[in-house]
Amino acid sequence: MKIFLDTANRELIEKWIPTGIIDGVTTNPSLLSKEGKNSKKVLENICGIVKGDVSIEIVKKEPNEVYKQAIQISKIAPNVVVKIPFAWEYLSVINKLVKDGIKINVTLIFSVVQATLVSKLGVKYISPFIGRWDDIDRDGMDVIENLVIMKHNYGFKSEILAASIRHVIHLQKSILMGADVATIPPTLLDKLMVHPLTQQGIKKFDADWSKLEKEDLFD
Ligand code: E4P
Repeated sequence: MKIFLDTANRELIEKWIPTGIIDGVTTNPSLLSKEGKNSKKVLENICGIVKGDVSIEIVKKEPNEVYKQAIQISKIAPNVVVKIPFAWEYLSVINKLVKDGIKINVTLIFSVVQATLVSKLGVKYISPFIGRWDDIDRDGMDVIENLVIMKHNYGFKSEILAASIRHVIHLQKSILMGADVATIPPTLLDKLMVHPLTQQGIKKFDADWSKLEKEDLFD
């Protein structure tokens, strides 16, 4: 199971890299807009400090422009993955980019059919959005479950990247359902590091140990 950090904030990425649990980063225009105007510099910095894949999203709309921008983005660094939202107008662009050897992450996936079509094209990642289904009163986990079945039915290589993860249950179910990757916002990752029973357990061990009037286990 790969863990990506869902942010464009350099400090937060630097905070988590030494833990060894971060395999890559996902960004999107909303996340980038929080990091100031010089997006290219921000992205170059991120690509320089992250060893794994860094997803960067296109913002052009017209298919030829999307193709050109995808090529430009892919040249930022060798670990760039170009993120393209699902749209039928972009299928031929994605097809061409995959044949050019560009790594693609198709984003804003909400159905098993969308995911199947782009898996056929050989994209590196497909990004189903869980939380945004929940936002409109549907269970976003269904799509992850269906995508895992689809991937195994046909032996597709595209990795299922669970996105729009908002809380621990989203992550837990993504792991158990067999998503290949989960991208997690740093605020959620912070919360996941604290478990009341772990804290309680440490307190109890400390209290019991202090009864021995010993400072160090090996003294
Ligand atoms: C990452 O690839 C997605 O852009 C991100 O997870 C979307 O999350 P949100 O629905 O919470 O904005």
